[in-house]
Amino acid sequence: MNSRRVVLVTGAAKRIGRGIAMRLAADGYRVAIHYHGSEREARETAEACGGAELFRANLESVAEIQAMFAEVEERLGGLYGLVNNAARFTRFDPLEVTEADWDFIHSVNLKATFFCCQAGARLMLKSGEGRIVNVSSLGGIRPWAEHAHYCASKAGVIMLTRALAKAWGPAIAVNSVAPGVIGVGELDERAQAMVRATPALRAGTAEEVAGAVAYFLGAGEFVTGQVLAVDGGLSQR
Ligand SMILES: NC(=O)c1ccc[n+]([C@@H]2O[C@H](COP(=O)([O-])OP(=O)(O)OC[C@H]3O[C@@H](n4cnc5c(N)ncnc54)[C@H](OP(=O)(O)O)[C@@H]3O)[C@@H](O)[C@H]2O)c1
Repeated sequence: MNSRRVVLVTGAAKRIGRGIAMRLAADGYRVAIHYHGSEREARETAEACGGAELFRANLESVAEIQAMFAEVEERLGGLYGLVNNAARFTRFDPLEVTEADWDFIHSVNLKATFFCCQAGARLMLKSGEGRIVNVSSLGGIRPWAEHAHYCASKAGVIMLTRALAKAWGPAIAVNSVAPGVIGVGELDERAQAMVRATPALRAGTAEEVAGAVAYFLGAGEFVTGQVLAVDGGLSQR
């Protein structure tokens, strides 16, 4: 049944986004892979997903977002699911954050997520149903002193999720997955300390995040406006 369902995953070339794309392809969805700079990795992921379609866009640009969704409609005939996974992450003392530092994070994490939701919802409403999953962060739930700008962007993603669930129900369910520390690369000292404080006593995996995304995509319209932390229990500390 999933085979006719098109799901676009942003930032899907590598790391968590790749894990999400691979899981959804294995579940039978027709996966569309978005990337920006990582073309080689995106091609590898597309191949690993059984020949998924590729879409390139700089999500800082609303015009490029709109062009990408128009291309998805043209090439794939519509859209059932959207996973907003692409994001940026930086660490600064809040006293040192510049306007450029702020915009660097918010242009992708919050602004692009909103305009992808808007463009995606317009396509979904043509068929009358859809599912949106926004990848937020434990940092949108818990305050991290040296990531105030990032935490604000991800808290914004969570409230966007809840407001859009109200705006677009029952046709479109909108939910969020909030990862804790995920072991997709080198963990710095701060991340290692967070892992030691995690009840599960380890970092999570891209597959575990993907499992939560797959749940929301497959759930009915009765599950909407929710945030699921995939964090080994760290949010309970
Ligand atoms: N890793 C963790 O431990 C962790 C923890 C909490 C939350 N998260 C969240 O989980 C998601 C995935 O995490 P991750 O660590 O796998 O992410 P990531 O590697 O830092 O970024 C994912 C992708 O976002 C894309 N991207 C960034 N800026 C873009 C732009 N201007 N236009 C288009 N694409 C852009 C990049 O695509 P290209 O490479 O193609 O340019 C990148 O590969 C993110 O939302 C992140 O905030 C991750």
